[in-house]
Amino acid sequence: MSSSPLIIVSNRGPLQFERDEDGQRTVRRGGGGLVTALSGLVSHRDALWIASAMTDEDVAASEEAGGPISQELDGIEYRVRLVGSDPEAYDRFYNVIANPILWFIQHYLWDISNAPDIRQEEIDAWDYGYQTVNEDIAKAVLAEIEGQENPLVMLHDYHLYTAPGMIRAERPDAFLHHFVHIPWSQPDSWRILPTRVRGAIYEGMLANDIIGFHTHAYCINFLRCCDELLDGVEVDYHAAEVRHQRGRTIARAYPLGIDAQRLERAASSPEVAEAEREVLERRRQHLIIRVDRADLSKNVLRGFTAFDTFLTQHPEFREKVTFIAHLQPSRQDVPEYAEYLERIEALVAVVNHRHGTTDWMPIDLKIYENFYDAVARYKHFDLLMVNSLFDGMNLVAKEAPAVNTRDGVLMLSENTGSHHELFDYVISVNPFDIQEQADAIYRALTMEAEQKRAWSQGLKEIIFSRNPGDWVDDQLKDIEAARGT
Ligand code: G6P
Repeated sequence: MSSSPLIIVSNRGPLQFERDEDGQRTVRRGGGGLVTALSGLVSHRDALWIASAMTDEDVAASEEAGGPISQELDGIEYRVRLVGSDPEAYDRFYNVIANPILWFIQHYLWDISNAPDIRQEEIDAWDYGYQTVNEDIAKAVLAEIEGQENPLVMLHDYHLYTAPGMIRAERPDAFLHHFVHIPWSQPDSWRILPTRVRGAIYEGMLANDIIGFHTHAYCINFLRCCDELLDGVEVDYHAAEVRHQRGRTIARAYPLGIDAQRLERAASSPEVAEAEREVLERRRQHLIIRVDRADLSKNVLRGFTAFDTFLTQHPEFREKVTFIAHLQPSRQDVPEYAEYLERIEALVAVVNHRHGTTDWMPIDLKIYENFYDAVARYKHFDLLMVNSLFDGMNLVAKEAPAVNTRDGVLMLSENTGSHHELFDYVISVNPFDIQEQADAIYRALTMEAEQKRAWSQGLKEIIFSRNPGDWVDDQLKDIEAARGT
């Protein structure tokens, strides 16, 4: 394997630059599971991270640097090259195609009798938005690997499905690896897309040598999609590969682990100690938490309805339990997301009005982003609710139990990638079944201490057994093997 740094490529980068009210440049960590995963990787390996410039200040900072920016944040040293795109193209790429169209397809979120409508606007967003940004990223990758023999490029997620084809066209010798952090949905879900768009996505993806997913089930879905939706390819399910004109593309599962030790260090930091004070003041006998991006796939509304049902069916718990829901605002320029947040706020008001008293607010809804506050909540939950409709992995299900101090119970949707690993030590729920989730709340809050301890230890063992370094090593091992054949 060459000693050049790993080249990792994603839309969202680890750092976001902004200007505060005093005109000072600020830097904050990018949100979401992908950044968590790749930050873990960067702290274990020498890597150059190529990502989109998402704010004006990102553009300014990268122009000033005139190349990769080196920056330390939360104890990790990043080297990031931020790629600027035309703002209108970027808006079409991010707010029309990637989120919602692709995200909704891959999480089965479309209510297809009503949406989406594919009009000229969406077609233009594909041609002059998604493709344009993919080209911008591909060009930056090509510039970075110029002069390197057989370079290795690791691309990430649904924003960059066509960039691999563009890179491959110029560099047949490159080894292209793509990791998809979200579910790969079943074949019919892709029929929403016009044939030309769908064809371009699969053609782009098959320019990769290996495609990684969090679970085996997503690999199978990918292979089935190639089988059913494409002409001129041969799918070998046994070898888990697609054979095509250029050669072959292998599909593999690499479940992502978290950097639990780093999280433990954060959990004992003064910032978290400060944040814990408020949590401890607010907590009653029982504390339920959830920590999510405010995303439709997270199933926040049914979670609150389940809590509402639980309080109605078990009035003995009134005033004894608080549900802190920490939601990080996300993709607010996409109308579906803005509307979702409004519906969440309205439902919380209804539940609080129905059950609350003058000094007890059953649901404490916090809509903002703060890592230390999230970790403080992780430490003190009795029940963590993760009830996603569909979720590629869900790292909160690993992060929170890793640092929890109360033998808290995890309610986990069976449609998350992490359920494949953690199912022995969780209360599994069907995310659509509200009564089951209400029963799960009751079960968790009345569980024997001994079982809670055993489950919590079981979870910790699994979670601490694998970090993002292992995740990338498994991929590098397969890359080496594939290169040798
Ligand atoms: C998920 C996706 C990532 C994305 C993150 C945050 O984890 O898999 O690709 O970066 O959500 O979403 P955002 O739109 O803020 O980048």
